[in-house]
Amino acid sequence: MELPFAESYRIKMVENIRRSTHSEREQWIKQANYNLFMLKSDHVFIDLLTDSGTGAMSDRQWSAMMVGDESYAGARSYYNMKNAIREILGFDYFLPAHQGRAAENVLYSTIIKEGDVLPGNSHFDTTKGHIEFRHATALDCTIEEASDTQLEIPFKGNIDIARLEAVLQQYPKEKIPCVVLTVTNNTAGGQPVSMENIRRTSEVCRRYGVPLQLDSARFAENAYFIKTREKGYENKTVKEIVKEMFSYADIMTMSSKKDAIVNMGGFVAFKSEKLWKACQKFCIMNEGFITYGGMSGRDMNALAAGLDEGTEFDYLETRIKQVEYLGKKLDAYGIPYQRPAGGHAIFVDAKKMLTHVPKEQFIAQTLAVELYLEAGVRGVEVGALLADRDPVSRDNRYPELELLRLAIPRRTYTNNHIDVVAAALKNVFDRRETITKGYAITREEPIMRHFTVELEKAR
Ligand code: F0G
Repeated sequence: MELPFAESYRIKMVENIRRSTHSEREQWIKQANYNLFMLKSDHVFIDLLTDSGTGAMSDRQWSAMMVGDESYAGARSYYNMKNAIREILGFDYFLPAHQGRAAENVLYSTIIKEGDVLPGNSHFDTTKGHIEFRHATALDCTIEEASDTQLEIPFKGNIDIARLEAVLQQYPKEKIPCVVLTVTNNTAGGQPVSMENIRRTSEVCRRYGVPLQLDSARFAENAYFIKTREKGYENKTVKEIVKEMFSYADIMTMSSKKDAIVNMGGFVAFKSEKLWKACQKFCIMNEGFITYGGMSGRDMNALAAGLDEGTEFDYLETRIKQVEYLGKKLDAYGIPYQRPAGGHAIFVDAKKMLTHVPKEQFIAQTLAVELYLEAGVRGVEVGALLADRDPVSRDNRYPELELLRLAIPRRTYTNNHIDVVAAALKNVFDRRETITKGYAITREEPIMRHFTVELEKAR
């Protein structure tokens, strides 16, 4: 008999979580103005809001915490982080930051000016926020196939090279501070970018004299997909693949809360010493001195250990197979999601599921609230609330896809929890015809509104 697959770790410490009743949840979500970000975590049973900073560190990471060096300047922990970044990722220069968006802030404060254009493959919301806040444009050049959720292709996160090249032809290089390639492509469904696509992007960038930035939050999951899906990489180690991926990049920004498996931390790394030096003042001003930049020594130590563990095949296989497990459950129930299953999350196709809710009433948000009411499971909307308003016309942007993201924290939940999530979603799916009304906005911020938006039931 073939042995079943099992996790490549065992559990040493647990955190208790509590179930709630439907009527409790009705009250709590109303108090939160139907915005799941505003719920207390104690009011959530299974929290799939994000896989960011919500993973479980290993015994090795916790022991590294104990020997952190908290010196203000030149700490041993900084050098541990520096060695890990050089050896695993191949960058000689870096600045620590308290998380990914802070790394973006340090970089973009240096390189973006008003009127610039940054092409990329579905910029993450904070990335887009940092670009638009500086009155520059985040130009999405993701391949068209990414918006067909039922199409099963191996590298649905790719950038469209022809569209990218057209943009690079259209604008002078002084207007394009960099191209932003996000690996894996979070917004398109945790979908990977192929090595060929990374290589070709870098070739085009070099030809036009524009630097390539890899937004690397989930770079290791991307490398796993290259190993398991791209011809010629099956016999390479994840670490070899990672090295090759970054050999094509000039800059990387990292939210270490994802693939470095820490609860807080980030960095921006450079091949160019000159750019590293130019960015230092923004690190010092916003984050902290250049050898800690918003991180304590113990956290830099845990990050260094996490980069090593996060690029091990067994860990990645356990992680990605759990996401796939949820995908297979939904397949069995006929629930539509962005195919194939992503690296960190399943993105349920809310538009296909709730066909009676008008787009003006926020379809994916409606599904997110229904799933919470059903079982205390918290996901997140990737739809019109997140897409926000057009920065110029201020009209609501209605994206082609309305998705409910169920992001799975690393090494945190068991497949029993996943079974609950799938069953809850099936119950909502079974009563989908009765869900005809969504939500209306009562208050919103002018930028990145989805975090704090207040909603009421649509009349
Ligand atoms: N880039 C990508 C691709 C991300 O997914 C995120 C964060 C960031 C940058 C910003 O990093 O949160 O450390 O400041 N994504 C989280 C998510 C929040 O839920 O997907 P951060």
